[in-house]
Amino acid sequence: MADKIRVLLTEEEVNAKISEIAKQISDDYAGKEVHLICILKGGVFFTCELAKRLTVPVSLDFMSVSSYGAGTKSSGVVKIIKDLDEPLDGKEVLIVEDIIDSGRTLAYLMEILKQRNPKSIQLCTLLDKPERRVKKQVQVKYTCFTIPDEFVVGYGLDYDQKYRNLPYIGVVEQ
Ligand code: IMP
Ligand code: MG
Repeated sequence: MADKIRVLLTEEEVNAKISEIAKQISDDYAGKEVHLICILKGGVFFTCELAKRLTVPVSLDFMSVSSYGAGTKSSGVVKIIKDLDEPLDGKEVLIVEDIIDSGRTLAYLMEILKQRNPKSIQLCTLLDKPERRVKKQVQVKYTCFTIPDEFVVGYGLDYDQKYRNLPYIGVVEQ
């Protein structure tokens, strides 16, 4: 049976907010180049929409990590599935994530990426669920939306690999 999905953020709301954040990033990185690291797969839609709106020079790389199994619960285990293609030496790195939940994925990623000698490294996320944070040390520079503790899908986010292609953010009703 098809899941029932309640709209939390419309496509228009999401795109308007991404434009705002892109303007802020373009201002903050004026005169510099920004190296976006898209965290696959969830970060893909957000990364594309963000990158198109940036007015500073952009380069892109992709990394795939897993911290979740097939369901909606964190396993607490973070594994690198695909590493970056390019080194980070001297780059202004901006990590682009779909959502920060427990913070385990980002806490781990920041540790390993900081060791690769970037000039700077910051985090940008489409969604943040601060109530769920376990790793309090994770500092997020750019957040599009802070949301309540609900499991969301769409705009890259999945439930068992489904719904990533929804153009809005929705909550799967149980
Ligand atoms: P964290 O390590 O607990 O912060 O989890 C981060 C990852 O968990 C995200 O990149 C998502 O892939 C996944 N995730 C966390 N919350 C949700 C949700 O509400 N919907 C879909 N995926 C989620
Ligand atoms: Mg996921």
